[in-house]
Amino acid sequence: MIQINRNDPCPCGSGLKYKKCCMNKMTSYAEHQLSESYFRRYRIKLKTPEDILGIKAAGKLVVDTLKLCEASIKPGMTTDDINTLVHEYTINHGAVPAPLNYHGFPKSVCTSVNDVICHGIPSDRKLLEGDIVNVDVTSILHGYHADANMTFFVGECSEDAKKIVNVARESLKRALTVVKPGKRIGDIGYTIQEYAEGQGCSVVRDYIGHGIGRGFHEAPEVPHYGRKNTGIELVPGMVFTIEPMINLGEPYSRVLSDNWTAVTTDGSLSAQFEQTILVTDTGYEVLTPYEL
Ligand code: MF3
Ligand code: CO
Ligand code: CO
Repeated sequence: MIQINRNDPCPCGSGLKYKKCCMNKMTSYAEHQLSESYFRRYRIKLKTPEDILGIKAAGKLVVDTLKLCEASIKPGMTTDDINTLVHEYTINHGAVPAPLNYHGFPKSVCTSVNDVICHGIPSDRKLLEGDIVNVDVTSILHGYHADANMTFFVGECSEDAKKIVNVARESLKRALTVVKPGKRIGDIGYTIQEYAEGQGCSVVRDYIGHGIGRGFHEAPEVPHYGRKNTGIELVPGMVFTIEPMINLGEPYSRVLSDNWTAVTTDGSLSAQFEQTILVTDTGYEVLTPYEL
């Protein structure tokens, strides 16, 4: 055991005295080292307790926004109406809708209907009885992002619609249970793929989960397919999304001429659920908590 004195140079290599550096941080020296090493090796920014509070506050707003959408969605409503709801609710709560102008995205939320996998652009398209619609909300509150989505039924839906929505929901639910320090990113994808394919559905490869924080899309990449015990090891302080897109038919996607809307190539239904997750010392905490 090495004793570091207050006036010694900080062992993190900053050149400052220990008392002016890691001694006063909420992170221990070991945590600081891990944080430096994850950034150097993977560009992953492990989150501080302050960061986590910020993401959690954004997450609460995202979930409240999704619940407002859930309560409002009915046949006859347009996806533009959903955009208006999300946009106004977000700015009225002092936040910014992250999708708006993000790499040129023209609206404040993604609304993806039926065979649209993700990145659907709100329009005058009316929701019809029997449609499924995914609403994907990302808000920036005091500089921190949180990202979550849900797929909703519009009125009464077909057995196919119920099946794909339930498989997508259960895929995310199962993925959460593997998140703990010592597991690897590949374990998440493996769990989703194993389950979804076992149900006769397929996992979209072209879009993946991502780190999140001060940035919308940070390292690491989180595929929803993969092999056990492969990829980056999960450590406390990692924050990322898991957002499996599950198709009833083939896993392939193509992007429409609007350069955003991703649809299934075979026209089959696609559903998705997304949460922003923190890796804790003992497992995980959902920073956008809603019942799956
Ligand atoms: N919210 C999406 C995600 O889960 C990203 C949408 S990007 C946008 O990562 F530009 F389409 F909004
Ligand atoms: Co996301
Ligand atoms: Co999202």
